Amino acid sequence: MQYSTMTTPSLQFLSQQQLLLLLPAVILLVVAAAADAQGQLPGCGHKCGNIDIPFPFGIGIGPGCFVDGFEVLCNDSYHTPRAFLRGTNGSYFPSPYELLSIAVEKGEARVLAPIASRCNTDINVSFSAGMYMDLVVTPFAVSVSNVLIGVGATAVTTMQYTVPAERIFSCLAYDFGSVREEGGNGNCTAGCCEFSPSTLTKDVLLSVRYIAEDQTNMMWSTFPCAYGMLVEKSWYEYYRRDMFRYTLLNRTTQGVPLTLNFAAGKGSCLAKGQVPPPEYACISGNSSCANATYSDTPGYMCKCLDGYAGNPYVANGCQDIVECEQPEVYPC
Ligand SMILES: *[C@@H]1O[C@H](CO)[C@@H](O)[C@H](O)[C@H]1NC(C)=O
Ligand SMILES: *[C@@H]1O[C@H](CO)[C@@H](O)[C@H](O)[C@H]1NC(C)=O
Ligand SMILES: *[C@@H]1O[C@H](CO)[C@@H](O)[C@H](O)[C@H]1NC(C)=O
Ligand SMILES: *[C@@H]1O[C@H](CO)[C@@H](O)[C@H](O)[C@H]1NC(C)=O
Ligand SMILES: *[C@@H]1O[C@H](CO)[C@@H](O)[C@H](O)[C@H]1NC(C)=O
Ligand SMILES: *[C@@H]1O[C@H](CO)[C@@H](O)[C@H](O)[C@H]1NC(C)=O
Ligand SMILES: *[C@@H]1O[C@H](CO)[C@@H](O)[C@H](O)[C@H]1NC(C)=O
Repeated sequence: MQYSTMTTPSLQFLSQQQLLLLLPAVILLVVAAAADAQGQLPGCGHKCGNIDIPFPFGIGIGPGCFVDGFEVLCNDSYHTPRAFLRGTNGSYFPSPYELLSIAVEKGEARVLAPIASRCNTDINVSFSAGMYMDLVVTPFAVSVSNVLIGVGATAVTTMQYTVPAERIFSCLAYDFGSVREEGGNGNCTAGCCEFSPSTLTKDVLLSVRYIAEDQTNMMWSTFPCAYGMLVEKSWYEYYRRDMFRYTLLNRTTQGVPLTLNFAAGKGSCLAKGQVPPPEYACISGNSSCANATYSDTPGYMCKCLDGYAGNPYVANGCQDIVECEQPEVYPC
């Protein structure tokens, strides 16, 4: 599917005051405007750099551009523009998460998330960074397709969450025997540990501690750092060289890919025979609805029925895949 980015050039040259005067007119225009064939409203952007930003996500000024909580900021000041999830009012986005891609049919958005680390610059001098992600008031949750990874010679990585129910998981990385070896085979063994959370989580706290009670890192000159990260399964390949110097820290300054699930509908799916309320999200024909499985704020996601593909959140978004409109995706 091809999305086009549309802006309203005339608006760019108006002062804020002029904009305020114009606002009622603009809203009226957006509401009254007919969506185009892709269901996109004029004045809304649905592409940032190389990234498609399909509805319910969107870039723009109008209330119709995106569903609350799905606003995307597109920063054009980079060679390739970069997209950031703005987040819902009140959510804790330390810096807005950078978006890598959106798979609206699967209810997935991939972002770059920071890692947790603890490093020494001397036997007595250390610095650490935890990783905290609070998605409680957002329509997002950390997908179960991610894993917790710990890396270090003698360290414990801990993952803690309180939603849906308080849990603490630890993963112990331990590797005394390989001080001079730069080997490794990509598998997460000695020096690396892995844990697969089995529930969607809305808030996550990662922290890293050395095994020594007093947090001394006796091996600091060879292994100055230990790490903890929540990252897409199979993204991380462990090689011992990652433990030497600040190798892994430097390699992950932009963050690591993390998959989030989202539920764009507020409330729950329609009961049998219920008339859809005006804000009902699954507006495409040939779509279905699934209640979200995490329950702090009720939400639901939309899917296309079997045999259909596309965007269930826009009118006529679910298309018959037999029509072979995308032969590269759906070979006939
Ligand atoms: C875009 O990115 C640049 C460089 O990091 C930053 O200075 C600027 O504030 C950003 N613009 C917006 C609108 O966030
Ligand atoms: C956040 O929400 C509160 C209450 O809904 C509102 O008063 C406030 O203006 C909002 N802030 C922003 C930055 O949108
Ligand atoms: C580290 O701290 C200990 C105890 O405070 C002190 O005796 C030692 O000299 C310090 N070592 C270095 C290298 O600063
Ligand atoms: C890494 O793990 C895979 C799957 O368990 C295994 O097949 C492979 O032999 C391992 N590689 C090495 C070099 O041990
Ligand atoms: C790696 O990170 C350390 C600490 O932040 C820094 O001092 C060093 O210059 C970095 N090295 C490279 C090659 O980027
Ligand atoms: C979703 O939840 C609502 C309210 O609990 C219920 O009426 C509806 O049948 C559920 N729908 C599905 C598809 O599970
Ligand atoms: C579902 O798709 C079929 C074609 O595959 C079409 O005839 C029908 O009108 C669609 N239903 C709705 C409600 O859009």
